[in-house]
Amino acid sequence: MKHSHSVVEKNIGLMVVLIIVVISIGGLVEIVPLFFSKSTTEPVKGLKPYTALQLSGRDIYIREGCYGCHSQMIRPFRAETERYGHYSVAGEFVYDYPFQWGSKRTGPDLARVGGRYSDDWHRVHLINPRDVVPESNMPGFPWLETTPVDGESLPAKMKALRMLGVPYTDQDIDTSTEAVKGATEMDALIAYMQNLGTVIGNRR
Ligand code: HEC
Repeated sequence: MKHSHSVVEKNIGLMVVLIIVVISIGGLVEIVPLFFSKSTTEPVKGLKPYTALQLSGRDIYIREGCYGCHSQMIRPFRAETERYGHYSVAGEFVYDYPFQWGSKRTGPDLARVGGRYSDDWHRVHLINPRDVVPESNMPGFPWLETTPVDGESLPAKMKALRMLGVPYTDQDIDTSTEAVKGATEMDALIAYMQNLGTVIGNRR
């Protein structure tokens, strides 16, 4: 028994296997409870699924790669909460498939940008950011203003989201195409952004 550990130390194959076993147990202990914890799986109070228009805007946000320069995740540090508002909590993202936390902040975090600017500000900013922020290096997205929203694909998207647990009603789905009729991609993207982070108050 005295030398049993030397067996492991002298046998690299066995050591690798045992290391994997130990790390797996450690990982499971940390990760598995998150799947059952209320605070990570239940929506925060007042969270609503995206409307048809907001959902279209979210897809445009993804298509245009906004996440490449913007995060949507405020960390619980003073420097962040003073600048952006209340830190992000898991329950805000339960209807996000996939979430847009991002990992790069060329521009500011957008997790609580909803309501910070007027719709008109966003419109001017998205067409040419330098018209409102002269030093901005964000690209313009002028085509959004002239491209109509694709409403035809909305029912299928919403059905898929419902399968994943987003509580859309039959009525939400049936009326979705009609709901975005006449809207431009600009309208949709702005509707999406104006809703971001608004369910938790306490903004700066
Ligand atoms: C190449 C990087 C880049 C990309 C891509 C980009 N942005 Fe930006 N964004 C910035 C920078 C830098 C700023 C800060 C200067 C400014 O306000 O224009 C900014 C600012 C913003 C702001 C103002 C935030 C605030 O709190 O003041 C919003 C809103 C915004 N971007 C939305 C978007 C959206 C929507 C998209 C995609 C359609 C997008 N951005 C794509 C770099 C980018």
